[in-house]
Amino acid sequence: MKFKKKILCIGAGYVGGPTMAMIAYKCPDYRITVVDTNPDRIDSWNSAELPVYEPGLDQIVKKIRGKNLFFRKDVEDQIKENDIIFVSVNTPTKTYGAGADMAADLQFVEKTARQILKYSRSSKIVIEKSTLPVKTALAMERILASGKGKITFEVLSNPEFMAEGTAMSDLENPDRVLIGSRETPSGLKARSELIDIYARWVSSEKIITSNIWSSELSKLVANAFLAQRVSSINSISALCEKTDADISEVAKAVGMDSRVGSKFLKASIGFGGSCFKKDILNLVYLCRYYGLKEVAFYWENVIKINEYQQERFIANILNNMFGTLAGKKICILGFAFKADTGDTRESPAIYIAQKLLAEHAELTISDPKALKNAAVDLAGIKGNIKYIDDPYKAAAGCHALLILTDWDLYKRLDFEKIYRSMVKPAFLFDGRNILDHKKCFKIGFNVYPIGKPALSHFKQ
Ligand code: UDX
Ligand code: UDX
Repeated sequence: MKFKKKILCIGAGYVGGPTMAMIAYKCPDYRITVVDTNPDRIDSWNSAELPVYEPGLDQIVKKIRGKNLFFRKDVEDQIKENDIIFVSVNTPTKTYGAGADMAADLQFVEKTARQILKYSRSSKIVIEKSTLPVKTALAMERILASGKGKITFEVLSNPEFMAEGTAMSDLENPDRVLIGSRETPSGLKARSELIDIYARWVSSEKIITSNIWSSELSKLVANAFLAQRVSSINSISALCEKTDADISEVAKAVGMDSRVGSKFLKASIGFGGSCFKKDILNLVYLCRYYGLKEVAFYWENVIKINEYQQERFIANILNNMFGTLAGKKICILGFAFKADTGDTRESPAIYIAQKLLAEHAELTISDPKALKNAAVDLAGIKGNIKYIDDPYKAAAGCHALLILTDWDLYKRLDFEKIYRSMVKPAFLFDGRNILDHKKCFKIGFNVYPIGKPALSHFKQ
């Protein structure tokens, strides 16, 4: 079959894989190829068990894989073959040198740009899909322009706004698609080629364009704003616990103001995920670089409140369990950074588990999708840890139950049965406020939600 467009994505991760699957699904006359420098990743994309869990992804990939969606290892040949190249490689926080612990490590992006330059035999559109510091496109452009031949590269920025766990529906019905380009004739031509792809399923008023730098910055700022809402509500949850106000009631009352809006106001043990912390650190670094100390300080505190929320949660466990966790068995329900994903990157559960182990608690960890990742995250940490699929078996014999991920299935558990199997007095710390606290209290648990009065059977 002759395909109308030949599109490549470099980086078969959480972003590259699902995004390309959606484009291929919506555009059966385009050939989409995904490559990765890690051959095992490609093998898993070609296997029965995909490397990324996303509701709806499996069905789509299995339907179109081998038809117009291909996962391949021959990066060099694929660069030659394709006209449009998405770059979706990871950009972790730098761990060394200037900007360590703050700036994005751009070595993979630069390496990829050099690879594209080296193997291209015709002109191409190169699209930044990775979240990048502002002006990265400039670096890519400069590398790509350093070749001697006649071929040219047009660099576009097209940040991805999908969230994990809802990636497929976010991709199918995005709030907006943002495309940043140069305002030159070739920049505008490349931009309209990319618009053509999304226009297959996204209505035109949702496809917005800007200059490249606005597009790059918008992604950082969108994530910073979302994270800021979580930190704002979490900061108030601490005050609620001191004053007997209820954070859910406050969030409802505040969120019903249409200027504020009701989403992203759930108090929790804090945000995790590969993006929020990294992107805010990036923003902070950028502000410092440009001498904007006050702005940097403002955003840095969004992260500080997130860390504070996790420390508060641990202190609350320790204080209420009589000041010692040594030898006590604690069951962690949920290790993923949010529901409906197996991803544990920056999950608050990692930090909380480490702190509990440092207190010599014994952990049983359960999660429907994230146990493999949890074992990797905690490898090498000293202490007694068991990974158990069945939440009932995980809770049996424990002194305390911690809800760390908002998986729906935890709401439906038989807490009478769990209570019966636990050591008494039984403690329940709901780090996501998803359970019926009064019901659990009536069953016999001492219940400690976030930002709400504790329900305890102990006499004050
Ligand atoms: C990545 C970035 O981390 C994020 O900032 C951006 O918004 C989207 O892309 P994600 O897809 O979640 O996010 O990362 P990850 O799952 O780590 O996937 C990146 C893939 O790129 C990995 O499979 C890695 O092997 C691959 N890669 C990395 C390359 O193919 N070439 C490289 O040079 C480096
Ligand atoms: C985020 C952005 O939402 C997305 O647009 C961007 O492309 C990537 O980064 P993601 O990290 O996948 O997506 O998940 P998100 O739903 O934003 O949740 C992030 C964290 O905040 C999770 O740990 C979640 O549990 C937490 N959260 C979210 C809260 O604690 N309270 C809330 O009200 C909302």
